[in-house]
Amino acid sequence: MSKEAKTDYEIHALLKKRWSPRAFADRKIEKEKLQRMFEAARWSPSASNEQPWYFIIGEKGDETYDKIYDCLVEFNQKWAKFAPILFISVGKENNTYQYDVGQSLAHLTFQATADGLYVHQMAGFSKGKAKELFDLPDYHQALTAIAVGYIGKPEILHPRMQKSELAERERKKMDVFVFSGKFGNKSKLI
Ligand SMILES: Cc1cc2nc3c(=O)[nH]c(=O)nc-3n(C[C@H](O)[C@H](O)[C@H](O)COP(=O)(O)O)c2cc1C
Repeated sequence: MSKEAKTDYEIHALLKKRWSPRAFADRKIEKEKLQRMFEAARWSPSASNEQPWYFIIGEKGDETYDKIYDCLVEFNQKWAKFAPILFISVGKENNTYQYDVGQSLAHLTFQATADGLYVHQMAGFSKGKAKELFDLPDYHQALTAIAVGYIGKPEILHPRMQKSELAERERKKMDVFVFSGKFGNKSKLI
């Protein structure tokens, strides 16, 4: 199944291909692919090269996976259970840590996409519970939960989720967020 972005300008094939599915196949992810994902995160830029990112990885069947699953809001539990890997991102507080951890996940996501995998990030989880369950040190915050896997069949999802799984992807037009001169002034680029 492809939900490739219908772009106004030509972009890299991997960027077009990436999307956030909820149906994952019952298939393990190769260790090397997981290693490459976190290697990609490792080489992303960060302010003063502080690299404020940390990841706690659970594989279906292990205790970490179950703990992450327990932190998810009910809506996310309904689909994330299909993913063979769940992990959380953690940031060490500084001026830009949320920006930097998000960017490391962008790099991770594109490496995963290049390896035929799909990544679905979630804000819908209890950060407090994750902090407690994973014994996060002071000044370290859980930021997102992430599901990774091979794409699965939409039919495995709850009927209401199937609809969005199959729906066309939507984006704002560029003229509402690319400006020049001052905020709100459409750029000549567009
Ligand atoms: C920081 C962040 C938090 C998100 N939280 C959730 C979530 O809790 N549950 C969910 O189903 N999707 C979540 N998403 C997925 C977004 O809804 C999705 O990326 C967006 O609708 C665009 O769709 P696409 O990624 O398929 O292009 C999240 C995405 C990001 C980046």
